[in-house]
Amino acid sequence: MTLYLVGLGLYDAKDITLRGLEAVKSCDTIYLEHYTSILAQDKESLEKLYEKEVQIASRDMVEKEAEEKLILPAKEKNVALLIVGDVFGATTHTDLLVRAKEAGVNVEVIFNASILNAIGIVGLELYKYGKTTSIVFPDDNWLPETPYEVIKNNKSLGLHTLCLLDIKVAEPTKEDLIRQARGEQVTAAPPRYMTVNQGLAVLKQIEEKRQDGIITDDMQVIGVARLGQPDYVIKSGTLKEILEFDFGSPLHCLIIPGKLHHIEEEALL
Ligand SMILES: C[S@@+](CC[C@H](N)C(=O)[O-])C[C@H]1O[C@@H](n2cnc3c(N)ncnc32)[C@H](O)[C@@H]1O
Repeated sequence: MTLYLVGLGLYDAKDITLRGLEAVKSCDTIYLEHYTSILAQDKESLEKLYEKEVQIASRDMVEKEAEEKLILPAKEKNVALLIVGDVFGATTHTDLLVRAKEAGVNVEVIFNASILNAIGIVGLELYKYGKTTSIVFPDDNWLPETPYEVIKNNKSLGLHTLCLLDIKVAEPTKEDLIRQARGEQVTAAPPRYMTVNQGLAVLKQIEEKRQDGIITDDMQVIGVARLGQPDYVIKSGTLKEILEFDFGSPLHCLIIPGKLHHIEEEALL
């Protein structure tokens, strides 16, 4: 019996590997992790291909109920957790792997493309990226400055920075769950996906606070949307230009280039 951690790739149901499909078809329970990334298609298209039911796994489920929903059941039957992109493209799944192994569960990982390698299409050398960072939605009292710090350090070494942009999927509250259990209708807040424009606005906001001159209107930035989909967009320009550009529907991410080799410069033209 096995816990399969299966990468789904970046676009639609057909991006699963043959190995992944075989594994999923052998599973009794299948969960789709839906909070660190999204596919361009809904879970019904996956169910049609797999000929199996797929359940949506919330962040709470994967992080707090992993033991009872994933790890222990995988001692008795085959269980799959499907992850959009690659299994290790988000930091959360390493913890699950470690816990499952500690519990003596047989784990099989089936890799796929991730934003972390697909970003190579932009033309900047993958080997010349420094630390990856995440820009999160700030609120009135909270403006995390980590992305600014990461960009500053990477730039000082001439390295590029990939900025992943926040996804906020509202988890049902305790009250919601009680109301649901009573059969009452509960409307969840729609998910929020940070755009390239919002990400840049956050970086500018941190710059205003820090005043280290790391983020400027005339610096070059690259906005990327829906990589892996037929209508993907890559647009390079000054921060001021890109701030105004409409990248369309999610997902988006952002690159702050470091020192460019002339081949990288040509690729961006
Ligand atoms: C935690 S990361 C990636 C997780 C996924 N498991 C992977 O390996 O690609 C999620 C973030 O990456 C970026 N991202 C993921 N897929 C993308 C895509 N197809 N195009 C542009 N950005 C993407 C977005 O900023 C998104 O919020």
